[in-house]
Amino acid sequence: MKFAKTSPLKGEITIPGDKSISHRSVMFGSIAKGTTEISHFLQGADCLSTIDCFRKMGIQIENNQNTVIVHGKGLRGLKRPETILDCGNSGTTTRLISGLLAAQDFNVTVTGDESIQKRPMKRIMEPLSFMGADIKSILDNGCAPLSITGKRLRGIHYTSPVASAQIKSSILLAGLYAEGETRVTEPYVSRNHSEIMLKHFGANVKTEGTTACIAPAAELYGNQIIVPGDISSAAYFIAAGLIVPGSEILIKQVGINPTRDGIIRVCQEMGADITLLDGNMDSGEPTADILVKSGSLHGVPIGGAIIPTLIDELPIIAAMACFAEGETIIRDAAELKVKESNRIDVMVKNLSAMGADVRETDDGMIIRGGRPLHGAVIDSKLDHRIAMTFAVTGLCAEGETEILGAECVNISYPGFYQDLEMLMK
Ligand code: S3P
Repeated sequence: MKFAKTSPLKGEITIPGDKSISHRSVMFGSIAKGTTEISHFLQGADCLSTIDCFRKMGIQIENNQNTVIVHGKGLRGLKRPETILDCGNSGTTTRLISGLLAAQDFNVTVTGDESIQKRPMKRIMEPLSFMGADIKSILDNGCAPLSITGKRLRGIHYTSPVASAQIKSSILLAGLYAEGETRVTEPYVSRNHSEIMLKHFGANVKTEGTTACIAPAAELYGNQIIVPGDISSAAYFIAAGLIVPGSEILIKQVGINPTRDGIIRVCQEMGADITLLDGNMDSGEPTADILVKSGSLHGVPIGGAIIPTLIDELPIIAAMACFAEGETIIRDAAELKVKESNRIDVMVKNLSAMGADVRETDDGMIIRGGRPLHGAVIDSKLDHRIAMTFAVTGLCAEGETEILGAECVNISYPGFYQDLEMLMK
């Protein structure tokens, strides 16, 4: 797929549903009693992997594109799958499902694609083992495939070394089945969609500062879920609207949960013209329309507690920083190295290939903005967020930018290129 300089982007866009919330709606709906009707469900490959795993465990799930109906069987209703569970490219599916499987009364193997088989799973294996789980890395390398045999679990208070909603959620899901209370404390608050939705389904979940706490549940109850637009997908249009000269884009019904809205705060600090309109609340999650207009930006420092609230947006923020005056320093973001690709390495290599002044650090990047970029051949490493980042960057570079493996956007945003093109007309 090839990109070149574009005329201003103008118009209105509705973003597909939030990936994290879509995953959770199927998982929690499956272990709840009764029906869960999910609107604006994300039909990305990652969320389809989650549907596939729960179907394999005997849950009837109707997928009518925009609406998904899950016929939940209750906390003890999952059946032993006849095959291994394939989570595809999805870290959320792999880690959250492992927490659930740790407490079932069967043995199962959980795995995924080449990227998943390289991602760290010790981070969930360790705390789940403390709870009494039997979970092993089959190749003994701390990665999937994982063999999980359900056990009786006990509640723990786990202090996580990293702020990760996947770790937190995996433990909380195991905690639903454990004896006694389960608590997870993180260095900073990570996204809290599990806490919000589990409460919505009747679980006893409390949060206090950076600690989330869950009591064992007798049952959860299916409920209606309206999935907000994914701010991580909206991020590409926020950035495009800000850096393509003369642009003005209205992005409709985006989830702006404070544990996810770091990109908006960073853009404001960079001096962006970005306005939130028409606020709403869907299934306990705040949403708003976001209006962005292009203008000049300046570099900012980004680090500390804001990092988990924009972790998936750091690639596009790094690209945006190339068009800002002065220096942007990204710190405390070593987690980027263990995402779908090593996003620090891949960003630094690809931005450098386009002529940017960018340097890798131990836990982030330093970008000196203001240099004009030129087109290049970009290896996406089949990482959806890298492909989308460079599609947008290519719109502001001299000459042609070619993205290899461009189709990987289907993981989180099927239709991304069509939506981008629509705004160019
Ligand atoms: C996610 C949490 C984040 C994020 C991922 C989705 C989730 O990972 O990067 O894309 O749905 O819980 P970590 O919590 O491991 O940082």
